[in-house]
Amino acid sequence: MTPPSETSEATPSPAQNVKIEREGRVLVVTFDRPDKKNAMTGAMYQAATKALDDADRDGSIGAIVFRGAGGTFTAGNDIADFLAASRNPEEVPAFAFIKALAACETPLVAAVEGMAIGVGATMILHCDLVYVSPGAIFRLPFVDLGLVPEAASSLLLPRRIGLAKASELLLLGEPFGAEEAMRLGLANGVIAADKLKAYAVEQAARLAAKPRAALAATRRLIRGDRESVLARIDDEARLFALALQSEETRAAFAAFLAKKPS
Ligand code: COA
Repeated sequence: MTPPSETSEATPSPAQNVKIEREGRVLVVTFDRPDKKNAMTGAMYQAATKALDDADRDGSIGAIVFRGAGGTFTAGNDIADFLAASRNPEEVPAFAFIKALAACETPLVAAVEGMAIGVGATMILHCDLVYVSPGAIFRLPFVDLGLVPEAASSLLLPRRIGLAKASELLLLGEPFGAEEAMRLGLANGVIAADKLKAYAVEQAARLAAKPRAALAATRRLIRGDRESVLARIDDEARLFALALQSEETRAAFAAFLAKKPS
């Protein structure tokens, strides 16, 4: 990732399909692979992980906004990458990103326009503020793909929305929209798509302007026991890595890539 500039100009990193912009004290991280619905490759996870790490080290960054280009947040992990990772499951780069999200000390704001699938949906559980466009659609398709939940969603989702609803979303993989995200308490506001980025940056700037130590301490208190979240991420990752090697998962990936129903 190229270090962010001090201006609001974009610093494109086309190789990684993650665009990093600096808007005052806010870092805007844009998943930028619209032709593939911003599906996350290893390089994209690495760039996003580095942005999180850099932000924690750089005292001048007060908050991070995550968004997607082209009207989609992200369609989740790149399925071709998953298929490759099924041969080498310890190397799944999503896990490092997820742990960096859970451990990040810099406040995180999500601006979700369009599809937020898989990690696109689970990562919002680690964000402090979540704004969605009216057309946002979340989906947790792990079981349908022969996988298990990740990003500690098996812990955080029941904790946030109750066991009954979390089971529906994680076991049945039912999609849900902006209004449902609001009703469930997973989002803070529904904002018109053309105003979403500006609004999220504005809210992030408000966070960035707060007394830093008090904000960090309050975040830690609100989030509670980080160790149990990190431990759950590891537990899920072990099962996820095993599932990646299963025949049913490989068949589901191959069916998606071949564009036929699994
Ligand atoms: N991995 C790899 N490629 C993906 C992708 C993913 N997760 N999601 C979308 N793409 C690609 C498609 O293969 C297609 O590529 P192509 O133009 O070269 O054929 C392109 O992005 C556009 O996707 P398409 O499916 O044609 O768009 P759509 O609007 O009809 O559907 C989605 C959008 C997001 C609903 C659909 O692409 C989808 O279900 N993606 C998979 C989501 C998923 O299961 N993610 C894994 C979570 S663990």
